[in-house]
Parts: sequence; C-alpha cells; structure tokens
Amino acid sequence: MFLFMKKAALSILFIGGVFVVAVVIWGVVWGKDAIRLLKAGGYIQYNVAEATELAHKKCAQCHSIDKTAKYCMRCGPPFVVVVHNMKTFIAQQKNKLAGLEDIKDGEAVAITQVWNALVGNWEDTWRKEDLTKLLDNDTPLLKLMNTPVKERWIEVALKGKSAAGADITIMKPIK
Ligand code: HEC
Repeated sequence: MFLFMKKAALSILFIGGVFVVAVVIWGVVWGKDAIRLLKAGGYIQYNVAEATELAHKKCAQCHSIDKTAKYCMRCGPPFVVVVHNMKTFIAQQKNKLAGLEDIKDGEAVAITQVWNALVGNWEDTWRKEDLTKLLDNDTPLLKLMNTPVKERWIEVALKGKSAAGADITIMKPIK
C-alpha cells in the first residue's frame, strides 16, 4: 500500500513536471509570436533597429531601395502618404504576387518614421486637409501625421542619421 502511494505520488509529480515544461515551452514559442503580432498591430512600439530593418525589408520587395532613398520633396507627397499608398497597393497585389508580404498598421507607422528621418519629412509643406484626404481613413497613419515630430520617437532617434538618404550603410537593403 505504501509502495503504491509512493509510485502514485511519483507519477503525479512526473506528469506535473511534464505539464509545466510543456506550458513553459508553449509560452516561449507563443510569447515570441504574440510580441511580434502585438508590434505589427501597433500595440507595442518597434525599437529603432527593428523599424529600420523592417523598412528596408518591406520596401525592397518590388523596387530597389534607391527609389525610396532618392525620393524627395519635389517628387511627391510625404512618406506618410507614400507608405499608405504602398500598403494599399500591396493589399491589391497580394493574390497575384506570391510571397509578397503586406504592411500591417504598426509596421506602417514605424516604416514611415524611418524614411521620414533618413530621407526627409515634408509633411509641414502640405496642407493637413490634403494629407488627411490622401490618407483615406488610414487611422494609424492619420494618428502619426497628427503627432508632433518630437513625439515620434523612432523618427527622433534616427534623425540626422543620413543626409538625404545618402548613407550607403543604412541604405543597403537587408534581405
Ligand atoms: C507591391 C510592390 C511594392 C512595394 C512592396 C512597395 N512599392 Fe513603392 N512602388 C511600387 C510601384 C508599382 C510604384 C509606382 C511605379 C513606379 O514608380 O515604378 C512605386 C513607387 C514608389 C515611389 C515613387 C513614387 C513617386 O511618386 O515617384 C516611392 C518613393 C516608393 N514606391 C516607396 C516605397 C516604400 C517606402 C515602400 C515600403 C513602405 C514601397 N515603396 C513598397 C510598388 C511597390
């Protein structure tokens, strides 16, 4: 009887142990995924390095990074609009181009700040009403556009890192 109880206790301990290990592994695997999803969704901010890498990865899918690095005030609307347009464009291409990765809300907010800082931000040379119209109910990017630059901390952190997008080391696409 005593031996049986000891065995039972041991197996309960063993099963309990396996259970705990399983939960921990599950937590680690899912936790990473959860953080990735929370960041992409805009609930947690990207850090500066992640944002920079993301900008290079997502924006080199169809054309070279040069197109972005050489974009300028004379070329067209500010990046907040460009990123909105590219995001919309990707959503339309999604079924046609295999392997194309979309740009999620949180990603768009981070990517816009990266290009604003590295290439240029000329939002203040445009009328707010025009930008609002061009952003077409893109709530996260509208919110960014209405955030003072000094409160956009990715943009602030990267500011001055590259003169007009000419910094080769930063501009090298990360594949
Ligand atoms: C699905 C493919 C695709 C992706 C991904 C993409 N672009 Fe584009 N991009 C285009 C196309 C198509 C054009 C317009 C045609 C052209 O100028 O070659 C364009 C044009 C541009 C232009 C020039 C616009 C102009 O008025 O001259 C800029 C700047 C630009 N993209 C930046 C970006 C940025 C920044 C990203 C990442 C957020 C990005 N692109 C991601 C397809 C893409």
